[in-house]
Amino acid sequence: MCGIIGYVGDRKAKPILINGLLRLEYRGYDSAGIATMENSGIKCVKNKGRVAELENCEEINILEGTIGIGHTRWATHGKPSIENSHPHLDNKRTTAVVHNGIIENYVELRNFLTNNGYEFFSQTDTEVIPNLINYFYNKNEGKSKIDFLRAIKSTVEKLKGSFAIEILNNDFKDEMFVVRKDSPMVIGKGVNENYISSDIPAILSFTKDFYFLNDLEFAVLSKDNVEFYDINLERFDKQVKNIDWDMSSSEKGDYDDFMLKEIFEQPKSIRETIGARVSKNNMIQIDELEITKEYLQSVDRIYIVACGTAMNAGMTAKKILEHFCKIQTEIDIASEFRYRDPLITEKTLCIYISQSGETADTIAALKLAKEKGAKTIAISNVIGSSLVREADFALYTHAGPEIAVASTKAYTSQIVLLAILALYFAEILGCESEEIEKLKEEILSLPSKIEEIFDNTEQIRKFAKIISNEKDVFFIGRGIDYTVALEGSLKLKEISYIHSEAYSAGELKHGPIALIENGITIVGIMTDSNLVQKTISNLQEVVTRGAKTFIVTNQNLGNFNFDEVVKIPEISSYISPILSVVPLQLLAYYISKEKGLDVDKPRNLAKSVTVE
Ligand code: M6R
Repeated sequence: MCGIIGYVGDRKAKPILINGLLRLEYRGYDSAGIATMENSGIKCVKNKGRVAELENCEEINILEGTIGIGHTRWATHGKPSIENSHPHLDNKRTTAVVHNGIIENYVELRNFLTNNGYEFFSQTDTEVIPNLINYFYNKNEGKSKIDFLRAIKSTVEKLKGSFAIEILNNDFKDEMFVVRKDSPMVIGKGVNENYISSDIPAILSFTKDFYFLNDLEFAVLSKDNVEFYDINLERFDKQVKNIDWDMSSSEKGDYDDFMLKEIFEQPKSIRETIGARVSKNNMIQIDELEITKEYLQSVDRIYIVACGTAMNAGMTAKKILEHFCKIQTEIDIASEFRYRDPLITEKTLCIYISQSGETADTIAALKLAKEKGAKTIAISNVIGSSLVREADFALYTHAGPEIAVASTKAYTSQIVLLAILALYFAEILGCESEEIEKLKEEILSLPSKIEEIFDNTEQIRKFAKIISNEKDVFFIGRGIDYTVALEGSLKLKEISYIHSEAYSAGELKHGPIALIENGITIVGIMTDSNLVQKTISNLQEVVTRGAKTFIVTNQNLGNFNFDEVVKIPEISSYISPILSVVPLQLLAYYISKEKGLDVDKPRNLAKSVTVE
């Protein structure tokens, strides 16, 4: 949720921290702050609002240090304010901390510290951390680096919850300390400089070499070294990983917004996701998986678990898996799955989908399945993410960095990869091959078919203008089209703040039709020839009651009185969401633009939800 950044090297830290925070701002944008190590000790500057407002603070000009930490906040405990912004310092102002995550037992820890003479100046959970470190460090006899690490370790052992923490202390003017648990953090390795970030794109312009810290591993960064320590404070070595993402993929380029860029990148991101996995007349290749026919025959249930857009992609995948592999597949919201005591045995296969790979609920749901002996597959867009590291197998979507909070290219890449996975299983199981071959060809045709849809952009933009002042918009579809209705509705509410709901078209008459009144907008999605007439009937019922209609279809609908029909290319209904979602993404985008909203950073949201 929050973004954290750190720098140690020969250059002034301030501009590098600000640059990183601007790139991390999509993770949270309520307030921001940085602390640098100066000759006189730690100096800290923070402000409410966006990073630009931090940059405008006069005090920021005093920061000259070459080592520093920074934070952009998505408020959990305490409203956005200067006091609640990070970095937080201990009472003696010798230790500065930035933190991403939530400390669940902070009230208890606050009481403990208050009873030991400490005072608190913010409403945050984070403020206990620098004070606890200070408490334990003062209790130590020694004042060496290992003594300070012991104090951090004692602190971390007291914390319940999730955290990625960066620490500066006046006794160690050339070093920065970090530790994480269930919250993302990467270390970037440079030449005579090193970096910390909560994700890769923020520091991709400085380095492509990364270390990935596991839970409860500590690192000490100096300008020319990164030392790793395990939970017993024993030193160990870590392999550096080279990330070959193209820097331009995390830049806006000629586009006004990341979201628009990412929508238009979909032909490329889908091509990259398909990669060498699918080719005509060859078996599907998924080298990352070691799955046998015997194992698949033993699987009695697949669970797909995810949140938000990733969950919507999972809903589509359920239909593909059940149809092609004939294995019962259930879809679960991660935050429900983890607490509902799901039936998991060694015969259960669990597939977790997460663009960021850092969604707290999805990670927890994966850990649960592992504990119960199920095999787990993670589908993520981020190399080395926490989800990927926890899973038995990891499959990457290769969509490139997705920066806009509203997910677009990750969603279509997730469905592509899940369709490929379903065909891979079907081939292993020896299922009917003609249909499999046909779907492979259709998958390969996706990039060019998406290009065709972009020809309708102007038509969609005009309709967006007409409905931009609506209060409610409903999305309907049947079968696989219902899964897209859910995604279209989520996109719209996220970035336009228009109230919107998605219904299975057949459910309208069971209640929601009471909401239909003159002028209301209904978005209908119809790509399944077996169901199109049914949905048309439902649409007739709302048209009769005065609704405006925006239709996305690949069918010839005949002579019906719909207000706007966006025609998309024909494709198997199993993967049609990859095409039918594109007009819905554009509709949401242009409505948000029409309303003058910040498309990439919608209110109250953050790109990755690393807290429960
Ligand atoms: O990183 P994840 O895929 O795990 O994120 C899951 C959801 O938080 C995410 O898809 C969210 O719904 C998006 N903002 C939707 O556009």
